[in-house]
Amino acid sequence: MEFWKKLLLNFRPIKLRRFLGSLFYPMKRDLLERRFLLSQQVFAEIGNIFKAETIPGGAKFYFEKVELEICFLAADFVRVNWQPGVEPIPYAMAGQDWPEIKVEFQSMRDRWIITSPALRVIVNIDGSLTWQNHQSEIIREELPPQLKTAGWLHQAKLRPEERIYGLGERAAPLNLRTPQSYLMWNYDAGGKYGIGTDPLYLCIPLYMGLHESGSYLIFYENSYKATFSFNGFAAADFEGGALRYYFSIGSPAQLLDRYTQLTGRPALPPRWVLGYHQSRWGYETEQAVREVAEGFKTHNLPLSAIHLDIDCQEGFRAFTIDPDRFPKLTDFNQELVERGVHLIAIVNPGVKADRRSELFEEGRSQEVFCKSTNGKLIIAPVWPGLCAFPDFTNPQARHWWSRQYEYLLDLGFTGFWHDMNEPGIFVLWGDPSLPPHSTRHFLEGRGGNHLEAHNVYGLLQAEAAYEALKEYKPEHRPFIVSRAGWAGLQRYAWTWTGDIETSWSGLRVTITTVLNLGLSGIPYSGADIGGFKGDPSAELYLRWFQMSCFLPFFRTHSANNVKPRTPWSFGEPTLSIAREFLWLRDRLIPYLYTLTWETNQTGHPLVRPLFWADSNNPQLWDVEDAFYLGDALLVAPIVEEGATSRSIILPQGHWYHFWDNALLAGGNQIDIAAPIEQIPVFIKAGSVLPMTENQQLVLHIYPPVTGVGGGRVYSDAGDGYGAWRLDEFYLQRHDNSLQLTWRKQGNYPFPDQKVQLYFHGLNVQKVWVDTQEVPCQNNHLELEQFHQISYQLLAED
Ligand code: NOJ
Repeated sequence: MEFWKKLLLNFRPIKLRRFLGSLFYPMKRDLLERRFLLSQQVFAEIGNIFKAETIPGGAKFYFEKVELEICFLAADFVRVNWQPGVEPIPYAMAGQDWPEIKVEFQSMRDRWIITSPALRVIVNIDGSLTWQNHQSEIIREELPPQLKTAGWLHQAKLRPEERIYGLGERAAPLNLRTPQSYLMWNYDAGGKYGIGTDPLYLCIPLYMGLHESGSYLIFYENSYKATFSFNGFAAADFEGGALRYYFSIGSPAQLLDRYTQLTGRPALPPRWVLGYHQSRWGYETEQAVREVAEGFKTHNLPLSAIHLDIDCQEGFRAFTIDPDRFPKLTDFNQELVERGVHLIAIVNPGVKADRRSELFEEGRSQEVFCKSTNGKLIIAPVWPGLCAFPDFTNPQARHWWSRQYEYLLDLGFTGFWHDMNEPGIFVLWGDPSLPPHSTRHFLEGRGGNHLEAHNVYGLLQAEAAYEALKEYKPEHRPFIVSRAGWAGLQRYAWTWTGDIETSWSGLRVTITTVLNLGLSGIPYSGADIGGFKGDPSAELYLRWFQMSCFLPFFRTHSANNVKPRTPWSFGEPTLSIAREFLWLRDRLIPYLYTLTWETNQTGHPLVRPLFWADSNNPQLWDVEDAFYLGDALLVAPIVEEGATSRSIILPQGHWYHFWDNALLAGGNQIDIAAPIEQIPVFIKAGSVLPMTENQQLVLHIYPPVTGVGGGRVYSDAGDGYGAWRLDEFYLQRHDNSLQLTWRKQGNYPFPDQKVQLYFHGLNVQKVWVDTQEVPCQNNHLELEQFHQISYQLLAED
């Protein structure tokens, strides 16, 4: 049925050659794979421990059939390694050294206990593990793992109230504890997906558990295909490899800190990337792109980047530009950069298998393409036709691939968009990728199959591009956006949520997808505004636009068979409202840029779930239609057609309404108006929100109701690796007086002559700047640099 449906749907629009490719390739794939399908998985009991010995920072246990090594990397962070199985190649790892940790080791008759100041693990004779916090509360109970013919099955008990988050990119509820199972297999959703589609393009075998005794994180360093489920037990079923995982306890913030210490901090992006990006599959000529850029200018809409999809290429081939349709690209790029607009080029990994192509011939002679077990190149259909696929697990292939970016960099492109890099392949049936068992990969010389290499394919392509950009443009920070990836992608690239359908549920699920990506260490993501395939109504477009204004990656993109989608395509009032949000985004950049520095230091996502700062409050565990942007902002998008208000649970504390400064008490559910020109946004009382006004820094002060608060601003040249500075502002309130103290670090000069301060929520009666009284009108001050400001506030009635 599925086959015939696809056959009919595909027949007309796809060229005959592509159609035949997507028919013959899966036939060949199935033939190659046939001999691997017969082997049945057999589970083996692991037996009992018969010997235990201490090792630095942990202990080693010998079972009848397996071995277990437990090693504390930090007091709250442990590596667990069950053998046998293929050892992982450390693609996820940042290569950090962990100082040796002193632990206590106790040996009992049928169990062994390893204790650090933060965490205790009890190893029972049958291989079950119990994890406790320093108060001896049980955080997690693991069953003895089961060794399979290939791979392992690992299970843990789940508490009734326990919630699960993470797993990379999922079109699922925020809490992943649903009856469905989740596949770890980067997957091209094929032009359109909606809520419930699984898997998607970027899977990460990591999850965070949250229950009444606390939260923990588990990351499996195993890139093999796997199935995760959370029905009764938390189960992770791997199709190969050793069972190696990392376990940590602590608040969500501490967990992300540890995890990104292990797998790398997110790279600091250039500042311009935080602006708005316009994209479309269908800008077929330089003239068309010029018109888009002009449209932004004439309509007074700020624009940071335009993305060029495969239509700019010659026959959809990677690292080509069609000279007839894009005749003066270098000059055009130069013109655009002078106006602050960057051009981003798409790069797909498939290389057209064409003897006339230099790229193909070079790759073939250097032996950098994937081959099958019979020694022949794997050739499969994608956009350019039949393609060969670089084996990015081969350092020589990565190096060769890196060199190709130079051509596009010379044309003036300043960033790259990696698509189809699961790798995605056109098929009429079955898995749309390389043959999993019969594709051989180099895997840094040790060799292995695609079952192991598939999930790291996009990650390693991103590494190759990152290295290229660092080498050819050392004065700039790389910008890469990658559809596929794995643990560690944050070191190199951003991502977007692929071909999400144009629907209200598509808009809604974007929130949970971005949140779970953030909890999986990927802080930079966003969705195609308006959805990829389909024509959104003006209302859906606008609601999506308003939400995306508060997401890290703010980009409109769409398929080639939909109507043009720019702010002016919808006429008024959409254009004027979108303009407001484009300028709001522009004004928010000092805040967003500071968040990029914070994530670079801590791994904390920019977009966070409402339980982030208060994970003991179960009321917040399932909120999936709102998010924090950093510490200061809470955003509650409108995700229902026709809605002009919504309800929201405000976390504890006090909150100022962004649009009218009203002070609201947290801890309650409130109803909030959201006319079409507004999205509900709240600012935490006690925040200093840095923004710009006419290109000057403005500090918006939202006073705490009582006690302390603050905010900070990170600044540097906006690109490169030069000097930086950090300005930290501390607030302290006593009744009707408020003190603001400024502390400075770093060598980069303060960007402005003056600093502007706006006071929100209360009226200022008197102000002293470093003990000298100064006039203050309309709660606004414009000052030279200062050390401390004291405000006397007008008492409330
Ligand atoms: C699939 C991508 O997800 C989409 O964004 C892109 O427009 C098309 N490929 C065409 O390149």
